[in-house]
Formats: sequence, C-alpha cells, structure tokens
Amino acid sequence: MPVETIAWTGQSVRIIDQTLLPIEVKYLDIGDIETLREAIKSLRVRGAPAIGIAAALGCYLGVRRSAAGDFASFRAELKRVCDYIGSARPTAVNLFWALERIQALADRMSDRPIEQIKHAILNEALDMIEEDHRICRAIGRHGAELLRDGMSILTHCNAGGLATAGYGTALAPVFYAAEQGRRIHVYADETRPLLQGARLTAWECREAGIPVTLISDNMAATVMAQGKVQAVFVGTDRTAANGDVANKIGTLGVAVLAHEFRIPFYVAAPLSSIDMSLESGEQIPIEERNPDEVTHPFGRQIAPDGIEVYNPAFDVTPHRYVTAIITERGIVRPPFTEGLRRVFDEANTRRSL
Ligand code: MRU
Repeated sequence: MPVETIAWTGQSVRIIDQTLLPIEVKYLDIGDIETLREAIKSLRVRGAPAIGIAAALGCYLGVRRSAAGDFASFRAELKRVCDYIGSARPTAVNLFWALERIQALADRMSDRPIEQIKHAILNEALDMIEEDHRICRAIGRHGAELLRDGMSILTHCNAGGLATAGYGTALAPVFYAAEQGRRIHVYADETRPLLQGARLTAWECREAGIPVTLISDNMAATVMAQGKVQAVFVGTDRTAANGDVANKIGTLGVAVLAHEFRIPFYVAAPLSSIDMSLESGEQIPIEERNPDEVTHPFGRQIAPDGIEVYNPAFDVTPHRYVTAIITERGIVRPPFTEGLRRVFDEANTRRSL
C-alpha cells in the first residue's frame, strides 16, 4: 500500500482522512472517542475492515483513563464506549465483530487488574491490524487464482488498501497477481454519491502502478456489453449465512448486469464480514445517509431546494448472482450456506491463518 490507512502512534489512532483524497493526503491523530466516532460516521475512515480496527482502537481510547476500581464498573464503562462507537454506522458487521471481540477479551480477564485489561485491549486491537495484513494477503492469493494475465476486472466502491489495514479485499487479488507479474486492468465505477471509486480506488490503483480506467456508474453495462471486462470483484460490509451480500449502493445493479452478460461476479469477504447469525440478506440493517450527499455532493448544489431524496448507503445482492465468495480460508462456491458453514468450522478448529 502506498499509504498506511490506520495505525497506532503509541498515543493516538492515526488515520488518513479519506474525505480529502485524492486532492490531499492528510493524516489525523485521534485521541478521543468522540472524534473517532465522527471519523467513522463521516467516512474519514471507511471500509468494513478498517472500521472494525478503528472501533477496536477506539475501545482503548475510551477506557485507557478509566478510574474504575472494580471489574463490574470497568465493564460497564467499556460497554458504554462500545455502544457509543457502535452507533456510528449500522451495516458493516466488522464494527460489531470488533467491539464484541474486545468485550469478550475483557470478560475472559475479569479476575485480572484493570490496568492489565486495558493493555490487553490495546494489544488485541494491534493484533487485529497484523491479522488484517495476513487476511488481505490470503484473500489476494486465493483470488488471484481467478485472474489470468491480460484480464480486465470491474470493481465498485473501494475495497482496496484504504478500506483495510492491509492491501484490501476485492483489490487484493489484483495486487497479488501484479506481484506475480500478471497484468490486470481495473475498471473502477465512480460510485455515486460519495465517489469512493473515483476518489479512492482510482487513486490507490494509480499509486500502486495498476492500470485503471475510471467510468461513471451508468457506464458499467456498456463496458460489459463491449466485452471490456472478464470478471467483477467487489467487497462486502456484511454477508449473510446464505451468501446474500450487502455492499456499497450500486453493487446490486452491477451483479444483475454481470449475470446478464455471463461475467463472473466475485465477492471478497474476510470472515469478519460474514454474519452467520443472519439467515439471509433481508435481515441486514441498511444505513441511510444524509440527503445532502445526493443533492449537494462535495458542497455544490445539483438538485432543486426541498426535493425528496432516498439515500441508502448499501444494497443487498441476492446470492444467486454471486459466482463465488473469496475468503482468507479459500474460495467458497454455491451452495453458500454449506460452504460458509464449512469454512467457519475449519477456522474454529485451526485458528491461526
Ligand atoms: O461507505 P463505505 O465507503 O464504508 O463503503 C465501503 C464498501 O462498501 C466496501 O466495498 C466494503 O466495506 C468492503 S471494504 C473491504
């Protein structure tokens, strides 16, 4: 990755402010949970895995100065911190996965001194960063099996290094294949309304030396009809146990098009983004965001005053449109209910990656 998306400085959480990219590369050092929550909510740090890591580091920020004298009051404080951070965004399950992981760690240490628990929380968050590097690489290695030299892929939103601590999920196979000397071309959907494709994917690919062509969202059908792309790779914010995939708004349209044009539609999904407690995508909470993002993109009014707006940030692609799900434990093909169950069982028996 050309930049580090999220890191711990020793005192604060350092993120690259993604709202300013690609115009300005600016880092923010965040030392309190109010600023951290705002950074997640306003997409300064975004992308499911990066949000999870930010949340875990946020837990430490929230409790590091706790004066709690016993575990019960410390645990209550930690829960308040988690509930507060968890209220920033509802769809990416990594956020809740990380908060639950931190709370479970604290529960396992209930008989230890509070200072020791605080340190363990920080170490767990730092472990998540290291794990994420390994996960991205493993997804890259598995996903690269689907890429041949000279192929072009289409992606939507940004599921690259900026969305993770490592080098991404959906873009990881491209980076991995490029490391092996294969030439892969990326078509990046601009991704209205917040333009993660134009601002982030295009920037990140260019910085990494990956050939990239930016298209506006309504050009995807044409690009497919003209045979310019041979596969679609997207990330996910939450995938249900049956393989239904929540991802950035517009992903569903891309999946339907890929189906029509018989182009494989691949979803890169770390296990932390798969919610096995949900049977189907219908149960995934979808974030609705401020109408201004649609009517006043980047501060410029483009719609009449007072117009009604619908602004869901994500959509759900039914599993029938998904060719395969690329996890860090391998590629899962339909039927997904069985395949994903098997991967989770394997992960539980052989823990380390
Ligand atoms: O609203 P965002 O920018 O956080 O949405 C991000 C996405 O939809 C990504 O595709 C998803 O989080 C996967 S990132 C590896």
